[in-house]
Amino acid sequence: MKKVLIDCDPGIDDALALALAAGSPDALDVVGVTTVGGNVDLPLTTANALALREFLRMGDVPVTPGSAGALLRHTVRATQVHGTTGLGDVVLPAPRLGPSEGHAVDFIVDTLRAAPGEITLVAVGPLTNVALAVRREPRVVEWARDLVIMGGSYTRGNRTPAAEFNMLADPEAAAIVFEAGWTVTMLGLDVTLSALVTTEVLERMRPLGRLADLLVPAAQFYGVVTAEGGPAIHDACAVAYVLDPGLFTCVPAVVNVETTGEFTRGMTVTDFRVGDRKANALVATSLNVPAFWDLVVGAYERLADR
Ligand code: BDR
Ligand code: CA
Repeated sequence: MKKVLIDCDPGIDDALALALAAGSPDALDVVGVTTVGGNVDLPLTTANALALREFLRMGDVPVTPGSAGALLRHTVRATQVHGTTGLGDVVLPAPRLGPSEGHAVDFIVDTLRAAPGEITLVAVGPLTNVALAVRREPRVVEWARDLVIMGGSYTRGNRTPAAEFNMLADPEAAAIVFEAGWTVTMLGLDVTLSALVTTEVLERMRPLGRLADLLVPAAQFYGVVTAEGGPAIHDACAVAYVLDPGLFTCVPAVVNVETTGEFTRGMTVTDFRVGDRKANALVATSLNVPAFWDLVVGAYERLADR
């Protein structure tokens, strides 16, 4: 059983990542969910996380709100992708329970401190909370079992030609996180753009009862589903990595985040020629797509049966 703390900005694919975690109770123990402003504003990402906690029957997993905006930059949102609420056309029942007291940054620090070496931090939004946790208590780098992020790319961006959304939304935070001294497992667009909801995948989701009420409209809002391609459920890749790292090929690299480039801000400049330097990242370069979908749909089926 692996313990995970999920920092997220739900977000359609964040929701699908949480559903993967919730459907894997024998393999994953979700010790907390923290929220960050990202795809939509913090009050919405937090409200969505609270609604998802109950819809996905995640019990009393604490949901703790964190940073509303980037460390230095003006706000960048992704409402054109995720809709004004962050969950597209999906309307979940209003949650009965509210968020936990306190701030996500304290929650991350305190939770990792209490179980050194045990908890994998999974970050699938802008890295503002994680960077602030590193600044507040640098020992989180030692205490985390691992840091797995969805973000960046060694090839191309999605929000700009150079930058992936989570990196562009808070490049200084991303730079702090990559420079902190741990090895960041980076699941970037290079692999997440192969995790596509095709017609075949959607047909596997349709029979899943109440869960289909989330999965199907979410996938369809997020992009056009065809036999060949469809929307990429980027964030689910990070949870899938924790569940089964063997799905991915990962290569050590030195990654630097561009923070000053006029056209390249938020780019994850990735050097696979590590040489004598210490690699600060393990960068995913390929994904076993059929095995990924078997893992994801299997978890969704278990969740639907509960
Ligand atoms: C990332 O950006 C967000 O819009 C998604 O939720 C995902 O975390 C993909 O670039
Ligand atoms: Ca996200």
